[in-house]
Amino acid sequence: MKRYARITGTGGYLPETILTNHDLERMVETSDQWITERTGIKKRHIAAESQTTCDLSEMAARRAMEMAGKRAEDIDLIVLATTTPDRIFPSTACLLQARLGVSSGCPAFDVQAVCTGFVYALAVAEKFIRTDSSRCALVVGAETFSRILDWNDRSTCVLFGDGAGAVILEASEEAGILSTHLHADGRYESLLNVPYGLSDGYEHLEAGEAKVQMKGNEVFKIAVNTLGRIVDETLAANGLEKSNIDWLVPHQANIRIINATARKLSMSMDQVVVTVDQHGNTSAASIPLALDVAVRDGRIKRGETVLMEAFGGGFTWGSAILKF
Ligand code: COA
Repeated sequence: MKRYARITGTGGYLPETILTNHDLERMVETSDQWITERTGIKKRHIAAESQTTCDLSEMAARRAMEMAGKRAEDIDLIVLATTTPDRIFPSTACLLQARLGVSSGCPAFDVQAVCTGFVYALAVAEKFIRTDSSRCALVVGAETFSRILDWNDRSTCVLFGDGAGAVILEASEEAGILSTHLHADGRYESLLNVPYGLSDGYEHLEAGEAKVQMKGNEVFKIAVNTLGRIVDETLAANGLEKSNIDWLVPHQANIRIINATARKLSMSMDQVVVTVDQHGNTSAASIPLALDVAVRDGRIKRGETVLMEAFGGGFTWGSAILKF
């Protein structure tokens, strides 16, 4: 009997503070009209100063565990995707493990693939389950991306937000994740990055200059083409037609990129889960947050076929196709 990894619970958490486009008009030279037309974003959530990525993760994780009917002792793997970990170490996954009271001594680790992080984390956890190394995994995408934004740079600060999403992934004989597809090409690092870190440009990090930089227009074009290719790759790997996909849950970077992928799949926007207007780009959190919204409002139902795709810094890109 084939062993699948199946999503049995989803959870999301958004910090209370909301920053609207009109709020941003008072901070940088921008307008609600420009942001709405170019990105589809109307507002984003921003973590309180005291809130960390682990705090956001905990809220999302507890909601996913509740939906799946799982307690801390049931979890035997934690994979957490983030670009904005609480600390240099321990990993945010280890901090979360302690916070949740997961006392099994199970593996817990972070993965870093920026906006593709959740797809990477899901793919890793799925392999643990398929190979019988895990029966019940907690997979989280969480960001306090506001901390690495230059709030004087209108070309980036209007795009991102904070949040966390989580899923419980369990071993099952019933169909779940059908395939995952991961890619990276480090030659593009200069188009989207934080140019400083611990072992490269530490003095800039200390000076508070380690902030997101992006050549948005170039990233946009490559993202649209790359996502088109990964959709083809994913369908071909499973012998599926576009019409077999019930739901697209894309990374939420820009409504124009999402529209282009939906067109490529000949999908009506009614079959596409869109949260970018409400959440902005929450990087690794965007897909699990969007999934949670559409599961909880009853759109995505058991047995339906869901395609997830993401593109981000690295460049990294990836997809997952699953029976929900
Ligand atoms: N408000 C008003 N004007 C702005 C602005 C803002 N917040 N940000 C940039 N502009 C200006 C630019 O300065 C530029 O002015 P100029 O023509 O006088 O030089 C003009 O708007 C057009 O800028 P451009 O960058 O070409 O716009 P765009 O149509 O490409 O839209 C993005 C910009 C960032 C919205 C778009 O490129 C994008 O979404 N890129 C991909 C982002 C992404 O997905 N990143 C993460 C991957 S996970």
